[in-house]
Amino acid sequence: MTLATPHLPTVSAQTLAAVELALRIPKAELHIHIEGSLEPELIFALAQRNGVALPYPSVEALRTAYAFTDLQSFLDIYYAGASVLLHEADFFDMAWAYFLRAQADHVVHTEIFFDPQTHTARGVPMGAVISGLQRACEQARVQLGISSHLILCFLRHLSEEDAIATLEAALPHMGSFIGVGLDSSEVGHPPEKFDRVFARCRELGLRVVAHAGEEGPPDYIWQALDGLKAERIDHGVRCLEDPALVARLAADRVPLTVCPLSNLKLCVVRDLAEHPMKRLLDAGLCATVNSDDPAYFGGYMNANFEQTVRGLNLTQDDVIQLARNSFEASFVNDEQRQKWIENLERTVQLGKALGA
Ligand code: ADE
Ligand code: ZN
Repeated sequence: MTLATPHLPTVSAQTLAAVELALRIPKAELHIHIEGSLEPELIFALAQRNGVALPYPSVEALRTAYAFTDLQSFLDIYYAGASVLLHEADFFDMAWAYFLRAQADHVVHTEIFFDPQTHTARGVPMGAVISGLQRACEQARVQLGISSHLILCFLRHLSEEDAIATLEAALPHMGSFIGVGLDSSEVGHPPEKFDRVFARCRELGLRVVAHAGEEGPPDYIWQALDGLKAERIDHGVRCLEDPALVARLAADRVPLTVCPLSNLKLCVVRDLAEHPMKRLLDAGLCATVNSDDPAYFGGYMNANFEQTVRGLNLTQDDVIQLARNSFEASFVNDEQRQKWIENLERTVQLGKALGA
């Protein structure tokens, strides 16, 4: 077996079997910030191509700076890294590099966040951002067989007026993204700050997701559900502090796009052995595994699966449930969803028949 993360502690045969299964089954990724897939090597290559000066002398020095204490300490470096993106081709190259990683991890469908305000504030046209990303999505469909949707995220540390102006700038590209999300610094920027712009997005027929309950309190998850009418909650791990909220999420089967390695690197949890994923599954929630910002947090989808399975001794049934949840939570039509779930089941059965 090829492990996604070498040199991990020894675990039971049952856990190893669950890891092996997790690494080979088809899955969907629903929480990936494309700017968070920029590897240090590509940051340096794009900086050179575009004549952008970086505040780090080398790839190694940049990587050494990836020692985060909380969300904000990460976001400061993440926005600095994104400053090398200027042209349509840069957005294409970034997304294409992500798709190649996704394919290696058996990701068959992905819903990709992008942060236009990070780029338009530097004078990059909205069209360059969206067209570069869309071109990579199309090439991934044709050459890799991976389907994808784009989700435009508003930066919550900026004003609602800025979000409204961003939506207006994106209107000519409406057919290119399926929905909107809310990301960046959570605490102090509750979802209710964006109630009106999200209402407008819903009127336009856009799907709605929001980061909530990563560092922020359970009340932010309630606001995302009842104010923004979010159909999925990104992260949402702090819901476990509020039993009534867990009951609501379970009753309505609102998916949570959970990001275990992100939670570890941003000190939301001290150790993956303490990660809430198993408790979320046991509470009957539609929890999924995702990579968030894989270039910064130490791994793509399979690394997230592998380290979560090992940390929590998840079973093969847990792994199958997580992959099934990823398809259930995706914004595809029911026919496509059913095909993927059947394909997942066939892949699991094939492994059993071969004695895996
Ligand atoms: N932007 C990129 N990654 C993020 C995260 N984990 N939380 C909020 N905003 C983000
Ligand atoms: Zn995120």
